[in-house]
Amino acid sequence: MEFQYLLFSVENNIGTITMNRPDKLNALNGGLLDELERLVDSIKNNNEVRVVIITGAGEKSFVAGADISELAQLSVTDAKAFALKGQRIFSKIESLGKPVIAAVNGFALGGGCELALACHIRFASATASFGQPEVNLGTIPGYGGTQRLTRLVNSGRALEMILGGDRISAQEALSIGLANKVFEKEELMPKTVEFAQKLAAKPPLALNYALDAALAANDLNIEAGLDFEAALFALSAGTGDFKEGTSAFLEKRKAEFKGN
Ligand code: COA
Repeated sequence: MEFQYLLFSVENNIGTITMNRPDKLNALNGGLLDELERLVDSIKNNNEVRVVIITGAGEKSFVAGADISELAQLSVTDAKAFALKGQRIFSKIESLGKPVIAAVNGFALGGGCELALACHIRFASATASFGQPEVNLGTIPGYGGTQRLTRLVNSGRALEMILGGDRISAQEALSIGLANKVFEKEELMPKTVEFAQKLAAKPPLALNYALDAALAANDLNIEAGLDFEAALFALSAGTGDFKEGTSAFLEKRKAEFKGN
């Protein structure tokens, strides 16, 4: 698959997607989003990829938001389609069925913060910053920020970011639960890959069911959520990896998961 705005590599079952417009701080233009959607669709059906890392090219930025030169041209109708397109692609990332880790290596602003929010886990470099600065442009987050940020962190902190439009440091993001962990800049990728490797060695169907069940907590009431959890728990009992994991424990040996 050829890309103009992305880099993609697969190593040890870890797929790494790099947003690659460093001269524009990896701002999301339409072409980049089209490529990202195509890639995410292909990763969904690629069993070789068990874990995904998303990061940004260059020293400064993860993603500095939607491309403001495209944003500036939008009519009301275009703007709706623009938001729905970004939302659709980010929802595909969230519902990929395999763990997606954002390695936030710099600015995660606007659509960049929203991209990180659509990932399941956010690791950040100490030099990273997060923000939803859309109000400063006379608009609001359109790629899921008003929904995912308010669900992830307490709503007062989310609104402080969405209304104030200021950037917050990686440390502050950590303190409000927006970043899972913060590493020194040079440690970010090694630590992210180390964690991804740990996940890639786990039974993929169990990870898939765990993601589906946990993400459903955003949408379902507790009874429906518990019901869904029980259904997925039951499905897991039918997998080869469940038999292998439980047998290995009882036989005091290391499990050899086959992904079935
Ligand atoms: N859309 C389009 N281009 C962008 C961009 C965006 N979201 N963010 C940065 N760029 C471009 C700049 O226009 C500049 O391009 P140029 O060299 O052709 O002039 C290049 O990336 C470098 O950015 P610059 O502003 O010079 O870097 P900086 O280090 O001085 O500032 C930021 C970095 C992130 C603070 C600043 O670029 C910024 O505020 N970006 C917009 C963030 C934003 O509002 N995002 C939400 C959009 S909805």
